[in-house]
Amino acid sequence: MDSFLIRGGTRLKGKIEISGSKNSSLPIVAACLLADGPTRLHGVPRLSDIDSMNKLVGELGCHVFRNEPAASGHDGPPLNGPLDIEVRDEKVSHARYDIVKTMRASICVLGPLIAKRGRAQVAIPGGCAIGDRPVDLHIRGLMKLGAEFRTEGGDIVGEVPKGRRLKGCNLYLGGAQGPTVLGTINVMCAAVLAEGNTVLVGAACEPEVVDCANLLKKMGAKITGEGTPEIKIEGVDKLIGCEHRVIPDRIELGTFIIAAALTNGELELKHCNLDHLVAVVDRLEEVGVKIVRENGTVFVSSSRRLNPVEMTTQPYPGFPTDLQAQLMALLCLGDGMSVITERIFQDRFLHVGELNRMGAKIRKEGPTAIIQGVRELQGANVMASDLRASAALVLAGMVARGTTKIDRVYHIDRGYEKIEQKLRAVGADIERIEEK
Ligand code: EPU
Repeated sequence: MDSFLIRGGTRLKGKIEISGSKNSSLPIVAACLLADGPTRLHGVPRLSDIDSMNKLVGELGCHVFRNEPAASGHDGPPLNGPLDIEVRDEKVSHARYDIVKTMRASICVLGPLIAKRGRAQVAIPGGCAIGDRPVDLHIRGLMKLGAEFRTEGGDIVGEVPKGRRLKGCNLYLGGAQGPTVLGTINVMCAAVLAEGNTVLVGAACEPEVVDCANLLKKMGAKITGEGTPEIKIEGVDKLIGCEHRVIPDRIELGTFIIAAALTNGELELKHCNLDHLVAVVDRLEEVGVKIVRENGTVFVSSSRRLNPVEMTTQPYPGFPTDLQAQLMALLCLGDGMSVITERIFQDRFLHVGELNRMGAKIRKEGPTAIIQGVRELQGANVMASDLRASAALVLAGMVARGTTKIDRVYHIDRGYEKIEQKLRAVGADIERIEEK
């Protein structure tokens, strides 16, 4: 397993190009199972989770081809070539445990398979580092549309009864923790091919839901209200492949904004959409970070006098749980006491112990972390535990005194495209130690 070696104390300065969104691309690749004919996707990042999803849809009968990149015209790593996906064979509808256990987003094939093939067998995703992550809401929504479910040897098997079709209805998809992002997408992907109208109430409003709806509409689906808690869908008989560019990755953007703030740096972040981070900008401006936007570029600077803040993670448009760990790394150096409450995944605090190993002063109380700002962090050996916790450790390593070694960076490779190359290009002292 590879690790990162980071020598702290450098100031980030320069341009970074934001990649396409991982969390948009994963369900969008799965949604290609719904279409007849080829779909061409632009901006899909090269990440290990995307490789897993490509492999999965490949096993489910898709031909998947990654084209060569076009010349980038800038200094950073080259852009990705488009991804072509076409269903060639609908015989296999089984998402095996071998793939599902490496990537929970495999659950995204459930809705498309049931809607298009009338049958899906998907291994039940187990727990993961950020807590228990049930899929009951996905199943409840698909059952309302008429699918029948049973479990079989660790798999969920969903079927549309013989001679029938999914049938549109009014359904509520909220859960105890609020709406579900992938659950909304799964049910939306099934309802587009159902007979009649569906009203999905309590839908997630995340930009990734809107992006998937936009893809489906290009394929011929009839959807309105995406981006609000009530999505209306008029079922159609078939969908046809299309061309689509996935939205920029808002979590990568937020991570680099925090990187600039922490290192007292000045970054110019290209090809991004700050409208997707309104709550994050609100908190960061309160901290004292200067964020200016011009067209699709965001300029960030900071004098590194960091005010303490309070923040609670919430469904969109609230502060995203996927940036909670990175904000915590920043607040470790705040001028006083900050409070972070995690409302989406209440156990998502694995980074706390590792940040404390680097000299932070963080105390957990249930779903809340109390962060007493310190004057400096020190380099240490730390362990990546989940994707966003690992990103927080990279941020902390760049500002810590001395050297930080982060083990198990495969977690970062799941979600940050070429992160060490991007950071090195703007002055970070970070290298990957490959395990032979
Ligand atoms: N939930 C249920 N039942 C369900 C589904 C969800 O109780 O059937 C609960 C979850 O346990 C959680 C809350 O609802 O408490 C919200 O979870 P959600 O379903 O929205 O999460 P997800 O769709 O599985 C996506 C992202 C996550 C991100 C969350 C929340 C992808 C591939 N994953 O997961 O991203 O944290 O939404 O915004 O899109 C990451 O990128 O690091 C990551 C974990």
